[in-house]
Amino acid sequence: MLPQRVSIVEVGPRDGLQNEPGTIALAHKLELIHALAEAGLTRIEAGAFVNPKWVPQMADSEAVFAKLKRKPGVRYSALTPNLKGFERARQVNASEVAIFAAASEAFSEKNLNCSIEQSLAKFAEVASAAREHKIPLRGYISCVLGCPYSGAVAPELCLEIAQELLNMGCYEISLGDTIGIGTAASTQALLRVLLKRIDPTKLAVHMHDTYGQALTNIYTALQQGIAVVDSSVAGLGGCPYAKGATGNVATEDVLFLLKGLGIEHGIDLPKVAHAGATICRHLNIRNNSRAAVALLNKTS
Ligand code: HMG
Ligand code: MG
Repeated sequence: MLPQRVSIVEVGPRDGLQNEPGTIALAHKLELIHALAEAGLTRIEAGAFVNPKWVPQMADSEAVFAKLKRKPGVRYSALTPNLKGFERARQVNASEVAIFAAASEAFSEKNLNCSIEQSLAKFAEVASAAREHKIPLRGYISCVLGCPYSGAVAPELCLEIAQELLNMGCYEISLGDTIGIGTAASTQALLRVLLKRIDPTKLAVHMHDTYGQALTNIYTALQQGIAVVDSSVAGLGGCPYAKGATGNVATEDVLFLLKGLGIEHGIDLPKVAHAGATICRHLNIRNNSRAAVALLNKTS
């Protein structure tokens, strides 16, 4: 059965921008985040407190959080791979932090410079600090439907990691199809395994759209009772450690899908489309949201 309401987690300012090759002005990041909040998005991933040598585009995350004009009711979150990242996030009052494991040893080594087990040990430290400071903690698992280095991934491994992250205190696990290789069939197979042990209210989907299957996979997840969807305005982004992977599914496209299904989301689609068009103009890149391009063509 489909959920009545879906919560969107906007990851454009982090997942979207982390992979852009050019310089991104701090003012443009802030303008984007403010416009997204103004459009009604209440969960916005605004930055990442990772090693700036690894991901230079997120190096100014302190400045982003410090200069944000926070809208009441909006949660501004950040990635924190270790205690150092957590401390940076805490110093600038991130509303929420996220740890990010992978269901692939090869990807874990590339993305986090350590094994899955070593990453979980670092995440346990972040989790205990988050608990101590009463900061909500979200968990990601990358490569749930395939790894760019080692191929197929077992749903049982995803389940094991998801349970560990939940036991640490994550209130929700976002299932990342990092390279957008999943299909309706593999999404369904993964969720069947996870939902035997985990309540759907604890799961979100994070579908990259490399093979054009993200919306189909999201629809499959909605049918299984998942009601939290990560997406990126204008379909921005990709992962620096997954060569060739494109951005997340576009927020505008997800909103169009939800509208058609009569599912509430509380977000103003034209305003999101304008926010996406503006950042694409600043960055001189193509808008990857089909729905946004269609809407903007109609009104221009
Ligand atoms: P490392 O280099 O192995 O860390 O990085 P280290 O502990 O050996 O320290 C080396 C240096 O990094 C030291 O500085 C540390 O202080 C510094 P030095 O002494 O050389 O000057 N350092 C830090 N600096 C700032 N903030 C920190 C931090 N930690 C260490 N937090 C680390 C390990 C995990 C930090 C590194 O591998 C890293 O930053 N990885 C993150 C990569 C990343 O951001 N990937 C993209 C996001 S994940 C994603 O996109 C997937 C997702 O969207 C879901 C999906 O699609 O599947 C979430
Ligand atoms: Mg991602």
